[in-house]
Amino acid sequence: MEKTLSPLKGTLWLRSDFPAIRKAAEIIRAGGLVAFPTETVYGLGASASDPAAVARIFSAKGRPSDNPLIVHVSDREQVYRVASSVPERAHFLMERFWPGPLSLVLPRSSAVPDLVSAGLPTVAVRMPSHPVALELIRTAGVPIAAPSANRSGRPSPTSARCVLEDLAGRIDAVLDGGTCRIGVESTVLDLTGPRAVILRPGGITREALTSALGEPVFQASWKGVSIPPSPGMKYRHYAPRAPLILVTGPPSRRRRLLHILANFYERRGLKVCLLADFLNQQGDDDVENISRHLFRSLRRCDALKAGVILAEGIASRGLGVAVMNRLGKAAFRVIRV
Ligand code: TXA
Ligand code: MG
Repeated sequence: MEKTLSPLKGTLWLRSDFPAIRKAAEIIRAGGLVAFPTETVYGLGASASDPAAVARIFSAKGRPSDNPLIVHVSDREQVYRVASSVPERAHFLMERFWPGPLSLVLPRSSAVPDLVSAGLPTVAVRMPSHPVALELIRTAGVPIAAPSANRSGRPSPTSARCVLEDLAGRIDAVLDGGTCRIGVESTVLDLTGPRAVILRPGGITREALTSALGEPVFQASWKGVSIPPSPGMKYRHYAPRAPLILVTGPPSRRRRLLHILANFYERRGLKVCLLADFLNQQGDDDVENISRHLFRSLRRCDALKAGVILAEGIASRGLGVAVMNRLGKAAFRVIRV
């Protein structure tokens, strides 16, 4: 009997040329699932107006149904289809940061199925800057709902190969657009209240938002309130298989502790993976590089069958806030020295 053991398990691996994008757009229009590159991470897309297709996203990822999806658009007109109103601030930020890694939480219009927003009265909207993502949305002619294209809880994928590691056989196709430039997800900014509030730090920094708006931009915290400002906040995310210990504090002290811990675990026969060589810069001027490689490094620790992962923290400013947020969520334990 002939065996057909394909690692793709029926998922199409498409080059991102025009015919492939047309094919991917047809799949989306027909209610299928296509993973596609964005400048942040790969997204897992379905037509945002098709509840059955959106439901397939949740089951392919194993995603809790109370965690809403971001709707991706290719033009401003689509924003008016998915949002019931667009505040002045949103216009300004779209002008300044779109296309790019900024998702705006706005009041939701009735055109967006409940499932996309997990029943919330709001919707997160973003216009990605990756040319393949924009072309796919344009060709499909519909806004595309897309979470990151990983199995729920795993590090987000920054290449088509990482997508297939998690989702081969569970989705119809992946458009291969190479590796993602930014490497961490978009900033999610809530504009539905009187103040602009960051629900998830990401590719656009708080400093950039504050200076563009000329007013303070707040960072949401889940401490002391029973309902998280964003459902995504309550889940453990980005976790590699081995426990990750994150060490923060002044560089010389945190490095000393990393050495001690590495020796300790090695003596106990555990394979230690150190995420410190590339986090080893002095002035954090390399933070863009760190961000670009962060998720791939976490996945690499899995491939190397790490017994424990030791990660060195970096300064929580600029893009470093998003990096530390992801490391913090991936961590089994955080030690401050
Ligand atoms: O860069 C990105 O944002 C990537 C690419 C594919 O665009 N997408 C992404 O989606 O990271 P996802 O689903 O992995 O994360 C979306 C986050 C979640 O934490 C979710 O809770 C939050 O955004 N979110 C979505 N809609 C929301 C809403 N209406 N209100 C509050 N939070 C929302
Ligand atoms: Mg995600």
